[in-house]
Amino acid sequence: MRIDIATLFPGMFESYLSESILENAISRDLIQIKLHNMRDWAHDKHNTMDDRPFGGGPGMVLKVDRVVPCVEAIQAMDARPGRVVMLTPQGRTLTQRVVEELSTEDRLILLCGRYEGFDQRIVDILQPDEISIGDYVLNGGEVGAMVIIDSVMRLIPDVLGDEESASTDSFSAGNRLLEEDQYTRPREYRGRSVPEILLSGDHGLIEEWRKTNRRLKTFARRPELLFEDEPPFESNRTR
Ligand code: ADE
Repeated sequence: MRIDIATLFPGMFESYLSESILENAISRDLIQIKLHNMRDWAHDKHNTMDDRPFGGGPGMVLKVDRVVPCVEAIQAMDARPGRVVMLTPQGRTLTQRVVEELSTEDRLILLCGRYEGFDQRIVDILQPDEISIGDYVLNGGEVGAMVIIDSVMRLIPDVLGDEESASTDSFSAGNRLLEEDQYTRPREYRGRSVPEILLSGDHGLIEEWRKTNRRLKTFARRPELLFEDEPPFESNRTR
């Protein structure tokens, strides 16, 4: 998958892209990530990207005649048109189902806003998939773009060492339960012991314990997950 990021703050991504699982996936060419500084499309002498809103009001608005040419130029950099995703608190909320949907694309173009938002004509012309990472307001779309990359890459084949780990993730289509409690050594710490069953070596019993633990925990913390009706995304992948 190729992911293009259009941002006014490319530096925010640098350490994120160079760490851990993502760095490994990039170096194995499982994901290609291209950063684009939107300011490169500001051609006036002050590199203006934003302007005051017509009608007045606080904040600044990203300019249509900068952002649209920028995204169109990015689109033209690859034969795959890709899906343009705009990070905005006004978008549909990111859930694991949306993540699964995005993971089937061969290219994503993540458009990060700043200031008060985008000129509406940017939305009208580019018709992006507007996505919010939750009902709170961030300073811009950059952190949201990282959330999308982080969650989508887990679903790209071979990115995770153990292919199993993403398919059993909480909230995935086949699993609407929270993860069970986990323990590792030492067996006892400050008077708190690991549940005996996990030390028993009886795999049948251990699996039963885990299932019960997942159900009880989900019921106590997130009961709506057990009852809500979010149809699983029908993947067109073979995996
Ligand atoms: N930009 C500002 N707030 C945001 C949010 N909640 N989700 C995505 N992008 C945003």
